[in-house]
Parts: sequence; C-alpha cells; structure tokens
Amino acid sequence: MSVQSITKRPFGEQIAGASLEDFWHPVAHVSEVGDQPKAFTLLGERLVLLRDAEGVVAFQDLCIHRGVALSLGSVENGRLSCAYHGWTYDRTGACVHIPQLGEGAPIPRKARIVKYQAVEKYDLVWVALNEPKWDIPQWPDGMWEDPSFRSHAILPKVWKANAGRAAENAADLSHLNHVHKDYIPLHDGPVIHRHEVAPTEYGLTSVYQDAGVIWEWQIHAPFTVIAKKTGLPAADPAGSAADGQPVPVMCWAAFHSPIDEHHTRIFYASSRNHSLDMSDADFDGELIQLVFDQDQVIVESQRPEHIPVELREELHLKVPDAIAMGYRQLLGKLSKVGPYLP
Ligand code: FES
Ligand SMILES: [Fe+2]
Repeated sequence: MSVQSITKRPFGEQIAGASLEDFWHPVAHVSEVGDQPKAFTLLGERLVLLRDAEGVVAFQDLCIHRGVALSLGSVENGRLSCAYHGWTYDRTGACVHIPQLGEGAPIPRKARIVKYQAVEKYDLVWVALNEPKWDIPQWPDGMWEDPSFRSHAILPKVWKANAGRAAENAADLSHLNHVHKDYIPLHDGPVIHRHEVAPTEYGLTSVYQDAGVIWEWQIHAPFTVIAKKTGLPAADPAGSAADGQPVPVMCWAAFHSPIDEHHTRIFYASSRNHSLDMSDADFDGELIQLVFDQDQVIVESQRPEHIPVELREELHLKVPDAIAMGYRQLLGKLSKVGPYLP
C-alpha cells in the first residue's frame, strides 16, 4: 500500500505566520461541561465553559468589572452571573443585568466579556481562541459517524509535559516494544521497517505494515495523532474477508490540548467495526489508561521540556525516527508560537 495521494497544498506550505491560537483545540470531554460554569485553560488563557439550551459556550474566565473568574459564578435562567457583584451575561457575552443599578438603568456598552468559538466533535468540546484557519482534524473515512462502527472518547489525562513532546510520543513506533512491550508491541519485533513519510494538507502521513496489519499514521498539525489499523485479509484470524464480511478496522486518535507550555490535556478516542459486543472499557479504555501511565513517566522526564524543532538538536535514526523527524520539521514551520515551541 502506498501513502495516500496528496491532493491539496502540503500543510507545511500553508502555515507561515500561523499561531497556535489559529487552530481548534480540544479542551474538555463533553461530560465535563454541564449547565454550570467550569474552568479550563488553553494556551495559558483561562476559559469558562458551560452548556445552555443551544449548546456549549466558551468565554474568557474574566469578569469585565473587577477581573473575577466567572467560573466561580453560576448560571441562572441560561445567563452567567458573576460571583462577586452579580453582573450577569447572556450567551453573546453582553452584560444584561447589573444588580447595583436600578431597574431600567442603561448598562454600559463596554460591559461585555470575551466569547470564543466552541463546538462539540468526537465527544470533545473544541475551542478556537482566534478565527480558526483550519478545520478540526477529520476522522478517517467517516468512521466516527458510521453506524457500523462503535466509537468513544475517554476522559483526558493531564501530563506535566509540552504538547509537542506528548504528540511525538503518540506517534513513536520505536518505544512500543520497549515501554509497552507487555501491552501493545509491534508483532514483527523491535526493528522498525522502512516507511515513507509524506506531507499532506493537514500535516503528514505514513503507512507502516506490521505482521498482519497495516497502520496508517496521520499527524494533524499541531498536536493530533491518528492511527488507523486495518487487518490484512490473508492474515485476518477470523477469515472474515473471505466470507464477505468487512475487514476489521480500528482507528484511534490522541488529541493533545496545550494547557500551557508545561502542561497538556490528552484525549484518546477510537472507532472500531469489530468486537462490537465488548464494552468500550474492555476493548481499549482500560488498556489505554495503563499505556498512558507508562508514557507519562517517560515524557514528563524529557529535557528540554519543549520539543526541539531543529533536527541538529538531539539525535535521530533515519528509519526508526522518520515520523518524528517529519513532525519536528512541520512544527518548525509554525511561527508565532511563543513559548510553546522553541
Ligand atoms: S467582578 Fe464580576 S460583578 Fe464585580
Ligand atoms: Fe506510548
């Protein structure tokens, strides 16, 4: 199988001058956002999220009056009320009530809070701090919405690590037979086969064959790793392809949300068209918790904490580290990323 054809301009040619604020980032699992305000942080910006009758809403977590965190407040009649003096904001961010002013008194026009775009996708809440220049990463082949697949996302982990380091770890083939040798090793053993890494309109991709499966890796700039695993018909233990059944396919994604330059929320989600009668926890939910714990110790120990994007920094092996080298070169093309990347 060859790397998928490139139909649009490679991402690396599109991003000059882009900043991390120009992307959608996942911030919360949908179950973490309810009808009362809750605090999150994205790229060092404190956010308050809530859900009203029309959907999720994200604001800067800062009351315009005296700078109190609005996440300390409460929602009444669908409006967010500040815990300090009760100024109340509607879903557009406009202040609609100031208890200390008499009934009918005009509300200053400047009395409004900063609102951010927020949407739900893949059971996660995504926020863009600027007008987003790129779409949320696309799940391969529409599997997430496909009723013949079972899909789920688990609650995030928080690592004391830079998002670039964490994302590179998620795409690192070389550590599977070392760190995770008891859980998710490559079946062909620790030697990494040659695999082409190609630029795409969203970042980069690579196809890796291991025993009876093909892995299609995608890195969506800046911090999403997607891996689609397809069973080869000849090696399918159930022989399902031969009797007209679909080839087993499983796809997972690790979405890395930069809380700040030193902390990352990591969301895992997956889709599968087999093992449909297994619970999500039994299929991969519990396994992923163990695997993430193994990775956390490793990645939190990395120094420098920021991922070096110049290839002359750190040492690389041409074949085993091919995806990582491509990823670092991609990140190196991003500018205006402040302290989050070197
Ligand atoms: S600080 Fe929010 S109402 Fe005064
Ligand atoms: Fe790992």
